[in-house]
Amino acid sequence: MTSAPRPLVAGNWKMNGTLAGAAELASGLAKLADAQSSSPCDILVCTPAHVLVPVFDLIRGTSISLGAQDCHVEASGAHTGDLSAEMLQDVGCSYVIVGHSERRTNHGETDSQVCEKAVAARRAGLIPVVCVGETEAQRDAGEALAIVGRQLADSLPDGTTASNTVVAYEPVWAIGTGRTPTSEEIADVHDAMRSQIGERFGADSEQLRLLYGGSVNPGNAQEIMSITNVDGGLVGGASLKAETFWPIVEAFG
Ligand code: PGA
Repeated sequence: MTSAPRPLVAGNWKMNGTLAGAAELASGLAKLADAQSSSPCDILVCTPAHVLVPVFDLIRGTSISLGAQDCHVEASGAHTGDLSAEMLQDVGCSYVIVGHSERRTNHGETDSQVCEKAVAARRAGLIPVVCVGETEAQRDAGEALAIVGRQLADSLPDGTTASNTVVAYEPVWAIGTGRTPTSEEIADVHDAMRSQIGERFGADSEQLRLLYGGSVNPGNAQEIMSITNVDGGLVGGASLKAETFWPIVEAFG
């Protein structure tokens, strides 16, 4: 029997924050991380691109890692407005979110593009946090498992391992709404993801972190983390303040 993976709690700051606000949040988190004798779980902040560099300076040397929220598939070239995984790695990132539902919706990203982005992240030495999740209409139609299964099949590249990839299940209807699935609903999806990943990638993938995301807050983190096959959380709104993010880190630790 293998032990459960070390949990990962990731903050997704989305398109929020000024330079001053980001510096205040990052230094608050760095202080909390420094005060711990050992970190209870892996901790990640995925900031908007304009504050990656200053945030990295503030968290460097703590147990907190830096991530970005998207990357281009190419390493460089004529792609105005985009950032490559190599550029993100160059400024201190070790993770990058790919295929977040807001990118899938706002930018029409498809599973195959998400898959290419995951490959690009790995090429640059970053760990992609590959996001999947059904809409409310899909859940109501009883299609949640099928939708997540298909997204997972098409978004995860060959060669996925526990150390080069993280998966986040984020039901679209739970993001930013204050609504969460029941523990049973989360367990059903996470169990199905675990078996699907195991069948395709083998025994090593037992250790691949499966995060839950969508309205995680200090009040529900404990219950969510106790669900089998939930190995951490991807936290949006509650990651924007140290007072709400840190209790979640502690709940998962
Ligand atoms: P939320 O966002 O915690 O604000 O629901 C989660 C996410 O979109 O990653």
